[in-house]
Amino acid sequence: MEEREARPAYVEELEHHVGEEVLIQGWLFNKRSSGRIRFVIVRDGTGLVQGVVTPDADPDTFELAERLPQESSLRVWGTVRADPRAPGGYELAVRKIEPVHIPKEPFPIGLKEHGVGFLMDHRHLWIRMRRQVPLLRIRDSVLWAIRQFFRERGFVATEAPILVGTAVEGTTTLFPLDYFGRTAYLSQSGQLYLEATCMALGKVYWIGPVFRAEKSKTRKHLTEFWMAEAEVAFLEHEENLQLQEDLVRYVVEFVVEDRKQELEALERDSEALLAEVKGPFARITYAEAVEIVRGHGVEMEHGDDFGAPAEDALGAHFDRPVFVERFPAQTKPFYMKRAPDDPSVALCADLIAPEGYGEIIGGSQRVDTEEELLRQLEEYGLPREPYEWYIDLRKYGSVPHSGFGLGVERTVAWIAGVKHIRETIPFPRMLDRLEP
Ligand code: 4AD
Ligand code: MG
Repeated sequence: MEEREARPAYVEELEHHVGEEVLIQGWLFNKRSSGRIRFVIVRDGTGLVQGVVTPDADPDTFELAERLPQESSLRVWGTVRADPRAPGGYELAVRKIEPVHIPKEPFPIGLKEHGVGFLMDHRHLWIRMRRQVPLLRIRDSVLWAIRQFFRERGFVATEAPILVGTAVEGTTTLFPLDYFGRTAYLSQSGQLYLEATCMALGKVYWIGPVFRAEKSKTRKHLTEFWMAEAEVAFLEHEENLQLQEDLVRYVVEFVVEDRKQELEALERDSEALLAEVKGPFARITYAEAVEIVRGHGVEMEHGDDFGAPAEDALGAHFDRPVFVERFPAQTKPFYMKRAPDDPSVALCADLIAPEGYGEIIGGSQRVDTEEELLRQLEEYGLPREPYEWYIDLRKYGSVPHSGFGLGVERTVAWIAGVKHIRETIPFPRMLDRLEP
């Protein structure tokens, strides 16, 4: 019989093809039978669709629908029907299935529960599964929203090197490597380079991978993660916070609109999420934050970082994001400008997400005079020589400037409502995880 021309379509486009025959190219996610009818659930990266195979389908197809194992790749021709009971609202009346590749061994990940160690060992296959696909699509949307926000505001996208000779965020989390006989490090943050670039381009941002030799095994720490960093010449602390707030609200609103189905699949309450970012974000000082945390029964000394219990307490206290400003200077890196009215605190803020998702942004105004910078390098016991170029920025037309870094994975975790950031990046790197 001569093949009818059917248009290849993606599952997410089926609403535009009701009544037409389409060709879906994907993988067999699941199947079941009910009497003389077989159901094949096919995934193609954009969604899941149920194909209905009746004995009227061609005979090979009927038999294939019975026999094909999970994750067989296939082409399916069928007519699109709107059906409110079908997952996604549409189903396919299948005419023909053509296998592309039939696995000889059973797919290691069944649809039942598996331990997380097993799933992490099979991350390259786990990413095909039910929660992981929507999550990675939400990640895509978060990254897109960040770019669109900065573009709309006239920022120039730029880059920072990954191979660097100096520390930004303290020397304890550096990954050293041999660089033709000298020691280089994997960058912890592009900030210092963005400070240089913003003096050339005014308003800059980049999104790139950064590295921290974090020995902590928490649900919020990776050793390789993505940061969206912005740096703006002539921007001061207050305006820096406003910029961050605008960005976070923009990203949440964009993703809720752009990834409705994915958020639903993850059972994330989008309305609640929107409500969290609707009004102005809360603002407190570090000293106030310590009191609030203690008030929630969590022990904390003045000068401590916020651990997970402290972040949970802040998340519970405010049901919206909260900026914690004016940290004791010695708890923060060397580059932060001190508050003019109290040099013991830095002109900085961490943005803590609600619901215990923790710190999603760290930012500050930067030291902008040569004397202050030299003094602070010395206070932190850092050698001057490798920072010579950074000192130069304070020698030639220095201006007040500020910036911040947003952790992409923690932001995705909060928006998607997943507790552990290892699921928010395709291939997480952690203390005990370098494969796959
Ligand atoms: O607060 P951090 O360390 O700030 C900086 O690196 C600044 N130089 C950024 C800047 O001002 N341009 O990191 C920024 C954010 C954190 O708020 C957090 O969201 C995320 O990066 N982050 C991590 N995410 C995952 N795993 C880790 N180990 C992280 N460390 C920080
Ligand atoms: Mg921080």
